[in-house]
Parts: sequence; C-alpha cells; structure tokens
Amino acid sequence: MSTPNSTSVIILAAGQGTRMKSSLPKVLHCVAGRPMLGHAMLLARTITTNPIGVVVGHGADQVQGYLDEEQLQFEPYRLVEQTQQLGTGHAVQQAFPVLNADSSSVANQYVIMCGDTPLLSKETISALVNYHQSEGATLTLLTTILENPSGYGRVIREKAGTVSRVVEDRDASAQEKEVSEINVGTYVVESPFLEKALGQLKPQNAQGEYYFTDIIEMAVQAGKKVAAWSTEDFLETTGVNTKVHLALVEKEMRRRISEQLMLAGVTIVDPERVVVDHQVTVGQDTVLHPGVVLEGQTKIGEHCIIRANSRVTSSVLGRGVIIQDACVLQEATVDEEAIIGPMAHVRPGSVIHRRAKVGNFVELKKTEVGEGSKVNHLSYLGDTTIGRNVNVGAGTITCNYDGYRKAQTIIEDNVFIGSDVQLIAPVKIGEGALIAAGTTVTEDVPANSLGISRVAQINKEGTAARRRALLDPSKAPTNGQGGQAEEKRPSSVVSQKQPQSS
Ligand code: UD1
Ligand code: CA
Repeated sequence: MSTPNSTSVIILAAGQGTRMKSSLPKVLHCVAGRPMLGHAMLLARTITTNPIGVVVGHGADQVQGYLDEEQLQFEPYRLVEQTQQLGTGHAVQQAFPVLNADSSSVANQYVIMCGDTPLLSKETISALVNYHQSEGATLTLLTTILENPSGYGRVIREKAGTVSRVVEDRDASAQEKEVSEINVGTYVVESPFLEKALGQLKPQNAQGEYYFTDIIEMAVQAGKKVAAWSTEDFLETTGVNTKVHLALVEKEMRRRISEQLMLAGVTIVDPERVVVDHQVTVGQDTVLHPGVVLEGQTKIGEHCIIRANSRVTSSVLGRGVIIQDACVLQEATVDEEAIIGPMAHVRPGSVIHRRAKVGNFVELKKTEVGEGSKVNHLSYLGDTTIGRNVNVGAGTITCNYDGYRKAQTIIEDNVFIGSDVQLIAPVKIGEGALIAAGTTVTEDVPANSLGISRVAQINKEGTAARRRALLDPSKAPTNGQGGQAEEKRPSSVVSQKQPQSS
C-alpha cells in the first residue's frame, strides 16, 4: 500500500529507437553487460517499492522476456503496452491510469523517466525528488548544460529565471537552439495535476506527437510551481539515441566500474582496456592485465592474476588463481591457486580444483580436474572426471561423442596418461594406472595396471638411405652403409621408453 507521500515511477521504453538502426528494441541494448532498461529499473527501485510502470511497445515481447528473466531483481512491476508510439506524452497517458487505479501503485507523486539514460545515478534522482519536495513544486524537471545540445529539448526560462517551457529540437527557433540547458527527460509530477494535464495533451508540433514536455508549459499557465534541478554531471544525462551514444555511455560506465574496483583494491594495469560487467565482483589485490574481459555473474577471488586478453564469463575463481594470456572461461569454477593457460578454453560445467594446471591449447567441456592434476598441453577433454594428482600427457583426447550420444570418461587418482592417448568413452581408468603413449583406450583399465594398444615398432636398417639413393642417385651410399637390408624387432613392445609429458 502506498503512503500519503509515496512515489511511483513510470519508465518510458516503448520507442523503436529508429536511430539505433537495429532489430533489437533500443532499451535492450546493453551497457556494461546490462540492458539499458535494467539500469532504469534498478534506478527506479532506489526511489520506490511500489510497482514500477514500464511502457513497452516496439519489441514488447522481447522486453517482457528480459524483465521476466530478471524479475527477482525488478519486481514488482506492471507492463503497459503502448501499441502505437504516438509520443512520450501518449506513453505516460497509457501508464498513469494503470498505476493510479491500483492500490499498490497509486501515489501522490510520479517520477517519469526514460529507459534510454543508463548513466543516471541514484544520487541525482534522489536529489531531484528531494528538491521537488523542498520547493513544494507541482512539477520538477531535471536539466543540465551541454556544450552541444543539439537533438535535445531546450529549457526555455523567463528573464527572472523561472522555467516557462521545453521546446523540442525540431520545433525550436534558431534563437531557441542557442540555449544550452537541456531537458534530461526525468520529471517529478504531482498526481492530481498529472492526471488533468494528460487529459489535455495535443499533438501540435513538427512530429505530430503527444509530447510529455508540453505539460511543463501547461503547469506554468495554470499558475503551478515548476522547478528545475540542474545537474553538473552532464555525462550522466546522456540519452542514447544512436550507437555512437551507446559507445559513449558504455565507455563512461566502464570507467566508473574500473574506478570502483581500483578504489576497492583491485590492480588494473590499463583501466581503459579492461571490460568488466556490472554484476562482476573482484577481490582485493587481484591484477587485471590489458584486454581482460569479465562478464556475467563472474566472481574473482583475492590475489588472482588475469593476464592479457583473457575472457571470463559467468565463472567463479578462488583465491590466487592465475589465468595466463588469451584464455576463454565460460560458466566454470576454478578453485584456489589453480593455473590456466595460456590459450586454454574452459567451457561450461568445468571445475578445476585446487592447484590443478590446465595448460596451452587445452579445451575442457563439462570436465572436472582434481586437486593437483595437470592437463598441460594440446588436449580435448569432454564429459570427463579426473581425480587427484593425475598427469594427462600432451595431445590426449577424449572421444566423448559417437555422433549420437555423449559418454563419460573417468580417470581416477594418481593415473599417468602418456602423450597422444585417445580415450574412447565410456571408459574408466582405475586408480594409479599407467596408459602408454600413443594408446587408444577402448576398454576400462584396472587400477595400477598398464594400458597399452599400439603396433609394435619395426626398425628397418638402411631403408632410409636406400630410398634416398633411389630418388636421388647423387646421394647413393659410397661406403656400403645401409647396403644390406636387415630388420629388427624389439623383443617386447612394453619395454619401449614412455615419452613423458610434464
Ligand atoms: C525526449 C524529450 C526531450 C529530451 C530527451 C532526453 C519529449 C517530447 N522529448 O526526446 O525533451 O531532451 O528525451 O533524452 O519527451 N517513448 C515511448 N513511447 C513513445 C515515444 C517514446 O515509450 O511513443 C520512450 C522511448 O522508448 C524512450 C523515451 O520515451 O525511452 C524517450 O523517447 P525519445 O524518442 O528518445 O525522445 P527524444 O526525442 O530523445
Ligand atoms: Ca532519447
């Protein structure tokens, strides 16, 4: 239930955003990994607990889909569909009666804001609301001064300084276009006046639209008090209309996030060249090198090092993890002091336990690497569970897919797998087993056994020299070396040296 001094918020998000030249509705374009509408919703949440009115139109289904996905963060809210986008005034006309008729959202003042100003801060919006109340105003608008105000509505003031109206860029005279104070598009309006004014809006302008801004002049003419709260942080008020604005806002948001991280003790080698999403947390004394991208619900512990050009998406890293250069981690868990990379790809569902190592050109998918185990070079392991202190040799591949189904590979503790081994799943290697280099494992290997499957080696003495002579007579042997054909077989295949990978 709303209290007498309650505030409800209406977010305008129905516009197509034609100038974005995109198939995605404008408010779903992301800034620092969160759609602009999400930023607006969270901002609105800081000033009201009432249901937030969200006006949707273009791409309504997509917008609703996004809100539903994130509903826990944003609830409660009411979607109001504006089927035809006849202007910002028309948008408020759709939402106001819905909120005003509902006992949980009826309020005596309404904050109207746009879904396309994602840098607006909670400090600014609460300053606006406080100013409105302290002035006892009927309507208060947020303004700022811009060096280049073109495209925005200009705030026209009387000689005495009081606001008389807002004129849109397209409707402004040459003289009005000189005005550098602009309308940010965020307002606080008393409910009874808002209701009355909405009923009187007319589409009399260059665009033939219902401009919400017309209610400012209506308030002045009705003798109501109109106040303006001007913010000096003009960047904050940037409305995104094109992808050029989007990049500008993105850059500023990234700068703020990096600044907050550094103030919290994260070392960022080159703050202009890291990309960290909103929800990401990074522990103290972690070092982020240039080109690092941290996305989604990623949590990075303390004392980690993330080297150049690595991307970590929705993953959890424990204390002291090292991610070498150019790695990609997605929905992975990496326990403390594990080392990944360089150039490793850790795909969803993988868990790398404490002090394990995943090295160069290794790809893991739904694979668990036990404590202290190593997969150091050139491997693909999918749907695999690896125990503790296992060494997986260079070039080891799990054949986890037969064209129809995925199958599991289990490698128990203390197993040593030589280089260039294929494990044809489903298969299990028992504890302490040894797999010879070059083996194709098709059957389970019992604990502490040697598994080997390869053709015995034959050395044909002199064959290489004779072949050379045949193809290039100038290289014919002169001292009889290699003249006789003699074949030798090793006595046992098993006695061959095992190439090891470390
Ligand atoms: C608006 C203001 C302008 C201000 C600028 C600040 C009006 C008439 N003009 O202009 O004074 O300087 O914002 O950024 O209000 N929307 C709807 N339904 C519609 C039309 C728009 O929901 O029918 C939504 C859009 O999705 C957007 C917001 O309202 O989130 C602003 O619309 P936009 O077309 O960007 O208005 P501007 O021309 O930028
Ligand atoms: Ca705009």
